[in-house]
Amino acid sequence: MSIQIRPLGTCIGAEVEGIDLREPLSSAQAEEIHAGMDRYAVLVFHNQPLTNEQHLAFTKSLGPIEDTSRNTLRSGADFRLPPTFADVSNLDGNNKPYGPDDRRRLFAIGNRLWHSDSSFKAVPAKYSLLRAVRIPSKGGNTEFAHMGAAYEALDDETKALIEDLVCEHSQLYSRETIGFTQFTPEERERFRPVRQRLVRTLPRTGRKSIYLSSHIGRILGWELPEARLLLRDLTEHATQREFVYSHKWQVNDLVIWDNRQTMHRGRAFPVSEARDVRRTTVSGDAPTVEQAVAA
Ligand SMILES: [Fe+2]
Repeated sequence: MSIQIRPLGTCIGAEVEGIDLREPLSSAQAEEIHAGMDRYAVLVFHNQPLTNEQHLAFTKSLGPIEDTSRNTLRSGADFRLPPTFADVSNLDGNNKPYGPDDRRRLFAIGNRLWHSDSSFKAVPAKYSLLRAVRIPSKGGNTEFAHMGAAYEALDDETKALIEDLVCEHSQLYSRETIGFTQFTPEERERFRPVRQRLVRTLPRTGRKSIYLSSHIGRILGWELPEARLLLRDLTEHATQREFVYSHKWQVNDLVIWDNRQTMHRGRAFPVSEARDVRRTTVSGDAPTVEQAVAA
């Protein structure tokens, strides 16, 4: 049976049926998924009761895995999952929700700002694949905004203005935005900024997109207030409802998004409830721009 891909009715997102992700993916199916990703940027698969191993095997059939274990404040016994997974849950190593004032939680909820996964890495992420194992009684949606559609809706003057800009990305910047600044010297070193182009082009389609992320703190060559205001304007533009799909999770959903042409954000949910969502990440091919020489 061939895969059916049904658009969600906006400029972003489609639902996929006719595939069991527990089974090995054929190269024809993988190509259908890549083509669907190029076109819709977000693909939703319902009723996929995967084990971690099956989730990982499916991911590997779409590309090389990114190790995200150094992106978090989790350490040692906090890791519930292998380093091939980003544990996006609010659960500690004993499967208990973090307390409201837990430092690891306060860092993690920076994901409620619009961002692109791993934009703070020299080679940023291609796809993220998030699977819902337990969901809270309310809230916790993930929202996605299409940066290709947002780019196309810019006026020509703004397109020309941003065409060659290069930004610095770091988790230090996104967390500072929400007032989280208590980093250790080791964390400051680990989260040192990297550079990314502000406009990037999707290789297979040639479509341009605005590579925005709350991890951006600076635009090279720009005064800081001017840079922050431009970034804020672009983000407001790019996250208007016409460019957004909001995903309401069901257990055993798996959602893939293309970090090269979308931003996303998690939404709030009751602090005391478990939200067990697990992410694998397909790494990108190359840096978007030359990196600064290490000091
Ligand atoms: Fe994310």
